[in-house]
Amino acid sequence: MNILKLFFPCSLALAMGACGADKPQEAYDVSEDLAYCHTKVTKGLMALKEDSVDYKMMPRNIQGEETSWKCRPAIAEEWCSGFWPGILWLDYEYTGDPEIRKEAENYTSSLGYLSRQPVYDHDLGFIMLCSYGNGYRLTANEDYKNVLLESADSLATLYNPNVGTLLSWPRNVEMFGGHNTIMDNMINLELLFWAAKNGGSKDLYDIAVNHATTTMENHFRPDGTCFHVAVYDPESGNFLKGVTHQGYSDDSTWARGQAWAVYGYTMVYRETRDPKFLDFAQKVTEAYLARLPEDLVPYWDFDDPAIPSAPRDASAAAVVASALLELQGYCSAEKQANYRHCAEKMLASLGSQNYRSTENKVSFLDHSTGHKPAGSEIDASIIYADYYYIEALNRLKKLQENESRA
Ligand code: GLY
Repeated sequence: MNILKLFFPCSLALAMGACGADKPQEAYDVSEDLAYCHTKVTKGLMALKEDSVDYKMMPRNIQGEETSWKCRPAIAEEWCSGFWPGILWLDYEYTGDPEIRKEAENYTSSLGYLSRQPVYDHDLGFIMLCSYGNGYRLTANEDYKNVLLESADSLATLYNPNVGTLLSWPRNVEMFGGHNTIMDNMINLELLFWAAKNGGSKDLYDIAVNHATTTMENHFRPDGTCFHVAVYDPESGNFLKGVTHQGYSDDSTWARGQAWAVYGYTMVYRETRDPKFLDFAQKVTEAYLARLPEDLVPYWDFDDPAIPSAPRDASAAAVVASALLELQGYCSAEKQANYRHCAEKMLASLGSQNYRSTENKVSFLDHSTGHKPAGSEIDASIIYADYYYIEALNRLKKLQENESRA
């Protein structure tokens, strides 16, 4: 348990509101949480190797009484394929452990073929950024760079210039009645921005900016909450409707969708430095923070009438904690302090016994919700929750290191 957890018991959070004005007096001991993650990564690898390791099978979830990762094949249809290699890269970044790096390389290389086949859907960005993106950032391996550039070109073929966004799910055009763009798609713009800066076409930058702008104009309600899916006429480009797929209802706010908006617009501001995206990132963040329960881990959908009996989504909390640690660096002093404080409290909550996985499980976190309406991955360990959790911890570690050098 770290100092912050002792300093901020939940009852205090209740008394002061979601991310109230209370400020931690002690530094957050992020090293303890990162050491915990490394222990779990090592155990997870051992369990995967128990029989004979198959680098083409990627950890996805742990449900019920299971203790080891249930894996799925490293194919384009499996949108979570990149998160396990990403976790290994992020663990390697912290520990410098050459064994972990070797495993990261092995799992990453199972995904390279996806850059050389026609794009299946928008998730190519998630898959390649987490695996090859982190790998290239940490090793400068030129082969990784080439895979990323090819992937960005492939992803960009989903762009419809009449609409101004990428088509998220080509397979669901008929089901939704038009060109569908989901909020999650914001995350995949990072691959286009990256490619435009690293030898790819400058058009990729324009596509990403157009997508972010069109989404900002159509995908949100006046209060800053978002629909999950925006449907457009593919010819006229007109916005037809906002609906849900993974949320409670068309009018509700699916927590992870809002989390993707927070993360996505923060990233778009980093890449463009256009103040309208910074203002918008703060607007969608405020909409998210205002709806949180006392422990800062959202219910899976903010409007599920079953609250407080509804399941939580720790993955959304991890995504937002990571995003806030970036967003705080772009904001005024007051906002900066508040967002940093919120992020640390979210991480403290995720790192408490309420959300940490039990000792016998190889995951970092429990209590995420994948697709509640489909009855899938409810109150489970899910690989992307762990990915954004360790990303957030690494971000906080770097912030603390920079501060101690200043
Ligand atoms: N991109 C799918 C999800 O967030 O569940």
